[in-house]
Amino acid sequence: MTATIPHHVAIIMDGNGRWASSRYLPRLAGHKRGLDALHTCVRHCGDRGVKVLTVFAFSSENWSRPPDEISGLLDLLANALEREITPLHAQGVRLHFVGDRSRLSPKVQAHLADAEALTAGNDRLVFNICFNYGGRWDIAQAAARLAKDGRAITPDSLAGALALAHVPDPDLLIRTGGEHRISNFLLWQAAYTELYFTEKLWPEFGPADLDAALADFARRERRFGKTSEQVRLALAASQRQAA
Ligand code: IPE
Ligand code: IPE
Ligand code: MG
Repeated sequence: MTATIPHHVAIIMDGNGRWASSRYLPRLAGHKRGLDALHTCVRHCGDRGVKVLTVFAFSSENWSRPPDEISGLLDLLANALEREITPLHAQGVRLHFVGDRSRLSPKVQAHLADAEALTAGNDRLVFNICFNYGGRWDIAQAAARLAKDGRAITPDSLAGALALAHVPDPDLLIRTGGEHRISNFLLWQAAYTELYFTEKLWPEFGPADLDAALADFARRERRFGKTSEQVRLALAASQRQAA
């Protein structure tokens, strides 16, 4: 039996600052190393057959950080975009920027739109970068949109108006850096997501760590409210049908 590879992996990339501080480096050095780890992770997800990768790069609450860290992170986003877009496109990655773009400069907003347009035809891996994103913001903007259009607010209509409506809910959510919390990430979409926490700081999270998370996921039994027996019977039936 082949291991179950999650279709959609989401990651809270945490621990950049602590990685840098423990080396007496400025926090921004940690964010730079974090970008390298992300570069490797995108490639490895594609190689393992993950179809959607969603990463938390900057939260709605991260605006409370020191101004020089915020401007450093904005510069990193702009530079990474310029440097990585061609290799990502060559790998068949389709980029989406998820979050409130209105606080970003018009130049960065234009770059994000260009990157999305360039990669729109790719289908090897959908790569969602959540920047200035918050789960509460997302649910509120979806509800506001439905209300404005005079539409009923139901679980289905709300799900369809969320910023990640173009992909199914994440199967696996990884948080690095040792904290056991969601920090306003995919509040709606993580309802039935398998959670995986690791002490590894994000800049040190490599292919072997991703493989460990995937292996852990493959051992989980997802029940979606059913009993374990129901799940096993349904699995056996689908295996009989496939044989
Ligand atoms: C995550 O790393 C990256 C961002 C939030 C932008 P942190 O910067 O939160 O790193 P720690 O948690 O302080 O170590
Ligand atoms: C979550 O990490 C946000 C990102 C990784 C972008 P934080 O470091 O901001 O989360 P808290 O503040 O520890 O909850
Ligand atoms: Mg943190």
